[in-house]
Amino acid sequence: MPKQEIVPCIVVLLFFVLCLMLASVVSVYGTEQMDGCKSKCGNINIPYPFGIGRHCSMEEWTNINCNTTFSPPKPFIGPGNLEIVHISGFEVRIRNIPASSCYSQSGALVEDFSELYYDLRGTPYTFSTKNKFTILGCDTSALSKGNVNYSSGCISICDKRENLMNSSCPGIGCCQTSIPKRLKEFYATLSSLYNYTNVWSFDPCGAVFLGEQDMYKFKASDFFNIRSSLVDIPVVLNFAVSNQTCKDAKEDSGTIVCKENSDCYDSIDGTGYICNCSAGYKGNPYLSQGCQDVNECEDPNNPCEGICINSKGSYKCSCPDDSYGDGRKDGSGCTKKNKKIPVLQLTLGLGGGIVVLLLGGSGLFHTLKKRQLSKLNRKYFQQNGGLLLKQTISSHEGGVESTKIFTAKELKLATNSFDQSRILGQGGYGTVYKGILPDLSIVAIKKSKIFNESQLGQFINEVAILTQLNHRNVVKLMGCCLETEIPLLVYEFVSNGTLFHHLHENSGGQSSISWEDRLRIAAETAGAIAYLHSAASTPIIHRDVKSANILLDSNFTAKVADFGASKLNPSDQTQIDTLVQGTMGYLDPEYFHTSQLTEKSDVYSFGVVLAEIFTGKKPLCFERSQERNLATHFILWMKENNLFQLLEAGLANEKNTIQIHAVAKLAMRCLSLKGENRPSMKEVAAELDQLRGFLRQTGTKQSSGKTMSVDCDLYAIPSSSYSTDDTSGEYSMEKQILRSMNFHR
Ligand SMILES: *[C@@H]1O[C@H](CO)[C@@H](O)[C@H](O)[C@H]1NC(C)=O
Ligand SMILES: *[C@@H]1O[C@H](CO)[C@@H](O)[C@H](O)[C@H]1NC(C)=O
Ligand SMILES: *[C@@H]1O[C@H](CO)[C@@H](O)[C@H](O)[C@H]1NC(C)=O
Ligand SMILES: *[C@@H]1O[C@H](CO)[C@@H](O)[C@H](O)[C@H]1NC(C)=O
Ligand SMILES: *[C@@H]1O[C@H](CO)[C@@H](O)[C@H](O)[C@H]1NC(C)=O
Ligand SMILES: *[C@@H]1O[C@H](CO)[C@@H](O)[C@H](O)[C@H]1NC(C)=O
Repeated sequence: MPKQEIVPCIVVLLFFVLCLMLASVVSVYGTEQMDGCKSKCGNINIPYPFGIGRHCSMEEWTNINCNTTFSPPKPFIGPGNLEIVHISGFEVRIRNIPASSCYSQSGALVEDFSELYYDLRGTPYTFSTKNKFTILGCDTSALSKGNVNYSSGCISICDKRENLMNSSCPGIGCCQTSIPKRLKEFYATLSSLYNYTNVWSFDPCGAVFLGEQDMYKFKASDFFNIRSSLVDIPVVLNFAVSNQTCKDAKEDSGTIVCKENSDCYDSIDGTGYICNCSAGYKGNPYLSQGCQDVNECEDPNNPCEGICINSKGSYKCSCPDDSYGDGRKDGSGCTKKNKKIPVLQLTLGLGGGIVVLLLGGSGLFHTLKKRQLSKLNRKYFQQNGGLLLKQTISSHEGGVESTKIFTAKELKLATNSFDQSRILGQGGYGTVYKGILPDLSIVAIKKSKIFNESQLGQFINEVAILTQLNHRNVVKLMGCCLETEIPLLVYEFVSNGTLFHHLHENSGGQSSISWEDRLRIAAETAGAIAYLHSAASTPIIHRDVKSANILLDSNFTAKVADFGASKLNPSDQTQIDTLVQGTMGYLDPEYFHTSQLTEKSDVYSFGVVLAEIFTGKKPLCFERSQERNLATHFILWMKENNLFQLLEAGLANEKNTIQIHAVAKLAMRCLSLKGENRPSMKEVAAELDQLRGFLRQTGTKQSSGKTMSVDCDLYAIPSSSYSTDDTSGEYSMEKQILRSMNFHR
């Protein structure tokens, strides 16, 4: 677009934005009435659904009769004589009409309005229980009755003026009773025992009225001008739309008059329903666009200490970049951040910190860094991989990203004090919580269950491993916290669950992941494990490769997680480990048998994941009649050339048959009983990449081709030639191992 055209565009845009702003201002501060309708009668506001004229009101009884013969004009409900003094929400206040009678000194009736009658039947109004049936006088009795089988009475007698007190209704000279809910008809009549002859000197009159309790305050002087003293005590009416509850109205007519950003409530006395703007909105819920967002941040008394950000229906408090906290005055406020601590200090702090924990003296922590590490410290440090960490860092000088050290307070805040609702998962090694950091980024926080010396190794191990790693398909360690009794690890949060979940726990039985996605996830996982096997100077064996440890992000990108079981595997040491670790169904039979752990154990487990990806079946299934173990099942069926019966329905099409065959054969090789017959993880990753057409597209086929050994060339092995003597041997060995597995369970 040429420059000259941009400028007018911006002007138009600005104008448009300005218009929008003005429009919103008008609607926020504008009328509560429909277009073209008067919003006031005299001094009284008339909000919709009330209106002056039938076309301005929702129904007959909200059509307000504004009588202009008065100055200022006065609003009345419908055709009746009920004068409105105030309308707000569902409450309409009308002018009080008391009944009263006054007598002469001789006991003759001089002023007689001794009956009171309201009839609201057939209207959307009922008397609010904020009203009280009240009688005034010192020789006065009254009876009242109404619909809903209501009847009541009150007698007020007193003999001396001195006994009369100023109060809401002290009980002397004034008597009050409540009225029931849903009262629509009210009748009261006033009478006297002695025609006020005994009290005439201070009380010549009596009165009875229905009125808002809170508005009335009794004074003895009222007896002399009893009607005018009651004029400003309004009668409260509850208004409700229709004569149905929200639920019934929705069921009957399917519609509710409540407009957007408003909610339907059953009226307070259950005679109908009313509308109310939703939380965070204000305005008229009966009008389109009547409920407008409240900008809480404009209020100087808003609860934010830091930055206040308004949003539709709500607002958010946050802290500036250089501080953290929830930003709320009533919360943790904002605290200036500490500087990030580089990894070198992490290493020393970690080694030192753990030793301090072991010694039980937290005060030592700060001094340790300065001191020479003691012999014991050094032993732990070495044992726990601290030296290795240090080595890695010195060899990557400056190249390693700094790892954040979180404070206990920060993580407590982030997890809402490790609230139950924040638990993402629980495993053999501990609990993983979802944490929200002050910058609103989400993390996963791993807390070990019990922390004892044997697990310390594992913890250090995990830190040691993860701080070295940087691969897009490996879950990233963001930092850790050493201040707590149990050290905490903070990871990147991967939002979309595990591969296991997507393969097996989808509602409707069938997984929705396409073959292309499955192949990509497999390739990414293989790449990540291959990276583990080769990235560090000593190979890292994952030890617990399974679909539940393959996390998926929002793009379904695989992220390999849970190095709880992994252990650095120094190549110069014997590879014997007494404790067999891993998950049933994925466990390398050779490792199970010999306790010899090699990278090829991960390859076997990955083979099981491939079989899972193929079949959509769980690695161990006791409902399966033929073969509980998926790996064995898979091998058996493959040998009988039944691949496509194994395949989860809907995966295969004309284009991917070759791919499927090739991946199945790769899986078979991964599942070889003898580790030496399995391909390396690097080879597996390369093959999967090649199958995806990845290498062809990027044109790096030649260089990568060299890394593949000849016996890994997938296409060189015809499917029929797979069954060798070696595999028949495998079969019996596998049976034997599975028997022993079943025995152990
Ligand atoms: C207005 O009030 C006057 C006086 O009470 C009455 O005569 C008249 O009929 C009323 N007008 C309407 C339209 O109700
Ligand atoms: C009280 O007033 C009523 C009505 O005016 C009258 O009929 C009655 O006789 C009076 N009673 C006394 C005791 O004055
Ligand atoms: C009023 O009382 C009558 C007779 O006791 C009863 O049948 C009726 O249901 C009652 N009405 C209400 C609204 O309580
Ligand atoms: C009651 O209120 C009136 C007027 O407000 C006042 O003159 C009178 O002294 C008060 N009486 C008592 C007992 O407080
Ligand atoms: C509710 O109101 C409608 C019309 O306004 C009327 O037909 C119906 O009888 C009323 N129902 C009750 C229970 O009052
Ligand atoms: C309507 O909303 C206001 C403000 O959100 C609230 O104070 C009021 O209690 C609500 N009324 C009802 C009947 O829910």
